[in-house]
Amino acid sequence: MINKCLFPVAGYGTRFLPATKSMPKEMLPIVNKPLVQYGVEEALEAGLDEVCFVTGRGKRAIEDHFDVNYELEHQIAGTGKEKYLESIRHVMDNCSFSFTRQREMKGLGHAILTGRRLVGDQPFGVILSDDLCMPPEDGAGVMAQMVKIFKQFRCSVVAIQEVEGDDIEKFGVVDGEKLKEGIYRVTNMVEKPKKAEAPTNMAIIGRYILTPDIFDILEKTPPGKGGEIQLTDALLKQAQDGAVLAYRFKGTRYDCGSVEGFIDATHYVYEHIYRQPKA
Ligand code: UTP
Repeated sequence: MINKCLFPVAGYGTRFLPATKSMPKEMLPIVNKPLVQYGVEEALEAGLDEVCFVTGRGKRAIEDHFDVNYELEHQIAGTGKEKYLESIRHVMDNCSFSFTRQREMKGLGHAILTGRRLVGDQPFGVILSDDLCMPPEDGAGVMAQMVKIFKQFRCSVVAIQEVEGDDIEKFGVVDGEKLKEGIYRVTNMVEKPKKAEAPTNMAIIGRYILTPDIFDILEKTPPGKGGEIQLTDALLKQAQDGAVLAYRFKGTRYDCGSVEGFIDATHYVYEHIYRQPKA
């Protein structure tokens, strides 16, 4: 049974300052929908309808987004404008939401550990909503693809993509033995290696399925690269003690934590989703 998805949204989003000075990065819109809503829709499509947020100071707009706004809704009830609320109402009607706060920014691994009480003792998905993932044409979303693999192998799964050139230095990088086309058993993982030291060009993106033993591992994981508690370090330990799979997902990922990726995603969504007539 897997029905929970954790969203670590406590980061400062410094690459988007000044826009993110008082507004959460996750609320930046790609066309007319905030990044975090794309992530929650992807989780819901995968059957993960218990949505858990690890938030921080200044992130209240995320909670408000997934709650009713009586005044606004009353104002536009029965008018042609009501249709603009359809997508968020669908998400709200079909998911439950819980929130906890990461008091200090000690890294992604620490953010996930902070979500422990919300998740409990069960496997769960993790979505970093600044990585916007678009499914292949007529295909399932990335989290739905990963849930399928999890149900087959019952161990942690990380989504990967092949990255060319110096860009590899921005990612966690995996090495592994190929099990099937696009599926590898992880044998090594390095967080943001120098290009010359990267074991492969297989980079981890912001989609994970984690088994709950990751929490005990994270508790014992010392700060790593950048003085932060790195999820990559904990995953390597999990891979050494048991098994972690790397999955080369189908679809396209946009790094919306960077201005370039954000603009590319905006063009894509405008052309392929927003302007497409509804069936
Ligand atoms: P990033 O480092 O990409 O996000 O973290 P950031 O810190 O918000 O952005 P920049 O680099 O300052 O522009 C990856 C993800 O992990 C979360 C972030 O919210 C983001 O979704 N995160 C990171 C936390 O929740 N807590 C942390 O301590 C660190």
